[in-house]
Amino acid sequence: MQDIDEIEKSLLAQVVVSDAPRDVLKSPELKQLYGAIKSMSADKRGEYGKRINDLKLSLESSVSRREADLEDKTVVTIDVTAPWDVNTCRVELLPTEFGSQHPLTLELENVADIFTRMGFEAIESRQIDDDYHMFGSLNFPENHPARDGYDTFRTEEGFIAPAHTSTMQNRILVAGKDKLEAGGQIGVVALGRCFRNEDLDATHEHTFHQYEGVFVSRDANLGQMLGTLRSFFECYYGQSLKVKTQPAYFPFVEPGLEFAIEKPAALGGKPGEWLEMLGCGMIHPNVLLAAGIDPKKYRGFAWGGGIERLVMLKYGIEDIRHFESGKLQFLRKFA
Ligand code: DAH
Repeated sequence: MQDIDEIEKSLLAQVVVSDAPRDVLKSPELKQLYGAIKSMSADKRGEYGKRINDLKLSLESSVSRREADLEDKTVVTIDVTAPWDVNTCRVELLPTEFGSQHPLTLELENVADIFTRMGFEAIESRQIDDDYHMFGSLNFPENHPARDGYDTFRTEEGFIAPAHTSTMQNRILVAGKDKLEAGGQIGVVALGRCFRNEDLDATHEHTFHQYEGVFVSRDANLGQMLGTLRSFFECYYGQSLKVKTQPAYFPFVEPGLEFAIEKPAALGGKPGEWLEMLGCGMIHPNVLLAAGIDPKKYRGFAWGGGIERLVMLKYGIEDIRHFESGKLQFLRKFA
């Protein structure tokens, strides 16, 4: 018992100076004292056990007291009811070195940058919209099966989480009408988040990003559109590219096209391997009319494509779901 008294004294002395007092409860001396119980004869065991238990209790209460003391020292008390400038200690923000921009944010800025250098204005698309901007203003007839390709989420009040950035077309046209009629042109890209009710896999996500371009002038034509898109892709991938189009149906353009690039060899492509990058076409007269623009005087082209697809090709990312996963292992590659 003599030994126990000494060990107790020394452990209590450690607790009152320790910055991590709880660690003392795991000290080898204490373990040894417990370990000795096994080899003890039954008649001594009771008294010994009680002594060790008392020691543990007094150690624990001393640890709690020390912890409370430490906490009192580290927390600066403030008057939470006082006006903000009365409490002198300012909220510390985490240092920015701990974080980095998300690859999609970086690339959205990159895309916006290329188009602004071409003379387009870049705006952010909306993340909540209505049926008129999603379908009506885009020449989707009521109950037309083409609406099925844009199955997305709706609130009970009838608001829509937009399934494409084309919801911005009518707004861009309405806002640009005066400029157009004063002899100018409309040239805007809208970038932002879209949503779809998808079966998720490596190439389909419920949340993704698109970039939508709208250009209107007195004599806009398909040649200008193809030149604009080709320049964009060549600038984005930093090399010359083979491009092609094929007919496609979108109610808001006529003719409607899909625009494809040949996968560059530098990005693992083989000759003849085509990647469809976006939908595009000449803006349908009904879409111009819906914005009060006379289709007999003005023509326009528009396109819309996925940002993820661009970025996945650029960096060889094999699964679209990485973007929304929040996995640090993935995000750190872009830091
Ligand atoms: N909004 C279409 C989609 O997400 C893509 C698209 C096709 C946009 C043709 C356009 C266009 O502006 O002209 O599937």
